Amino acid sequence: MSRAIQIVRHGGPEELHLVDVSGNVGEPGPGQIRIRHKAIGLNFIDVYQRTGLYQLPLPATLGMEASGIVEAVGPGVMHLKPGDRAAYASNPPGSYSEVRVMPATTVCRLPDAIDFDTGAAMMLKGLTAQYLLKKTLPQGGLKPGDFVLFHAAAGGVGLIASQWAKAMGLQLIGTAGSDAKCALARDNGAMHVINYAKEDFLARVKEITGGKGVKVVYDSIGKDTWDKSLDCLQPFGLMASFGNASGPVPPFAPGILAVKGSLYVTRQTLFTHIASREGCQAMADDLFAAVTSGKVKIRIGQRYPLEQVQQAHRDLEARKTTGCTILTL
Ligand SMILES: NC(=O)c1ccc[n+]([C@@H]2O[C@H](COP(=O)([O-])OP(=O)(O)OC[C@H]3O[C@@H](n4cnc5c(N)ncnc54)[C@H](OP(=O)(O)O)[C@@H]3O)[C@@H](O)[C@H]2O)c1
Repeated sequence: MSRAIQIVRHGGPEELHLVDVSGNVGEPGPGQIRIRHKAIGLNFIDVYQRTGLYQLPLPATLGMEASGIVEAVGPGVMHLKPGDRAAYASNPPGSYSEVRVMPATTVCRLPDAIDFDTGAAMMLKGLTAQYLLKKTLPQGGLKPGDFVLFHAAAGGVGLIASQWAKAMGLQLIGTAGSDAKCALARDNGAMHVINYAKEDFLARVKEITGGKGVKVVYDSIGKDTWDKSLDCLQPFGLMASFGNASGPVPPFAPGILAVKGSLYVTRQTLFTHIASREGCQAMADDLFAAVTSGKVKIRIGQRYPLEQVQQAHRDLEARKTTGCTILTL
């Protein structure tokens, strides 16, 4: 038996079904590999794909992050061979499975010093923190001492970004939905924390920055934080939108950006950044160096057996998780 988690229609966590895909996995074609997973990463994008906020051709096996051992490589794959330890963040979905065939482009050899659970937890979230802090920058870049605002700082991407920002000398102001989560973000490098469930984060950002505001807001919350996040920015500041945990950002008139101080807005996705093999590997090398040097520690807050994926989704959506979450096999 070879297990996978599939949806046949978009909807709630109850739509996640354990199925047997034995006999359907097949051999890798040109540019593909077959990988046997050791652990699987859970991400908020899996929720968007399950609900249909991001539509998928159905039926679909969900999941965009995992680690494992390469079993077979197709023609043209030069950077991997059977037996390699590997990990990836990848389109198309399909990582909620014991074994799969997939494009090799974003699959990277995992350094020996990084275990499989860590590898599964860190690729999508860590590469996202990498491109946000290193490549999604305001005019003139970011320098040590600069203030940035990072929402959901105790989450999967958030805890990695908090540590990495500290290592870069940035003053990361992290928001989170409880005092316990704020304490966790602070322990992981956030210089200042705001419990946005009970504090006005705009007022607190102004207070922390002496009225100046921040150079960048990294906003994955979307609908609930958009307006106030814009007001947290300095003139010429950058609104880096990268998610919609509370719902998509409603349409807005560009003129608002002039009124609020000639602001910049971008909506980023990891999948543009890792579209080329060279680009993906360069980012992964930076991430691997950050993790193996101890600058960034990957905190796995929760583990669920693959068959309990419905509960994992419920907990992620209910804001009960912290740090990274993996599905175990
Ligand atoms: N564009 C990209 O390239 C990219 C890549 C990776 C991730 N992302 C985005 O980054 C975000 C973080 O991803 P993640 O996988 O690490 O998840 P996560 O941060 O571990 O979980 C999401 C967090 O968002 C906060 N949140 C605020 N309002 C929420 C709501 N209405 N419902 C649910 N959660 C809410 C919660 O933290 P509090 O309780 O502390 O508010 C929750 O724990 C997601 O929005 C994801 O889509 C984007």
